[in-house]
Amino acid sequence: MTEPQPSRQAWRVAVLTVSDRSARGERADVSGPVLVEQMKAVGWQLKGQAVLPDEQVQISAMLKEWADSGECDLILTTGGTGFAPRDVTPEATLAVVERATPGLAEAMRQASLRVTPHAMLSRAAAGIRKRTLIVNLPGSPKAAMENLAVLLPVLPHAIALLRDDPSSEQGHQAAD
Ligand code: MTE
Repeated sequence: MTEPQPSRQAWRVAVLTVSDRSARGERADVSGPVLVEQMKAVGWQLKGQAVLPDEQVQISAMLKEWADSGECDLILTTGGTGFAPRDVTPEATLAVVERATPGLAEAMRQASLRVTPHAMLSRAAAGIRKRTLIVNLPGSPKAAMENLAVLLPVLPHAIALLRDDPSSEQGHQAAD
């Protein structure tokens, strides 16, 4: 049976904030809501939002649940990509993706290096599980938005390819 092909307007995103302090209620989650607002502003539909502590098993379980629901084209995580001992978001992501997409993280780091040398401290990963693209962003609202800005221009073509949408061919022609 052919899967339904959601229209351009139906791009669907879920946002996961990874932070021990926010999960304990000790610090307000600012990055998650900021990312949600930005995605809605550019036409995405919010399918899920959560805050979890820096626990690899819990993070992986949430990513799997969202990806396997078939309801999310994209999952953005924010936080837990640095060097602190409890920063495990990339490991939790790589544990559940079927195909890694290193170019996205490479591009974000490259662009971010123009903003701060600390960009090289990001261990952010990205990859595909089924028809869902999962991308790690840094934890601070400013850094998360700067990295998202790098990603946004390529998302339409990325999602069209993931959906096997015939119109994805146009993206190739436009790039030639
Ligand atoms: N990228 C951009 N564009 N701007 C930033 O301020 N901060 C960096 C980096 N990437 C930053 C950035 C810093 S200080 C760290 S430690 C890493 O992202 C990881 O952030 P995280 O541990 O909050 O996930």
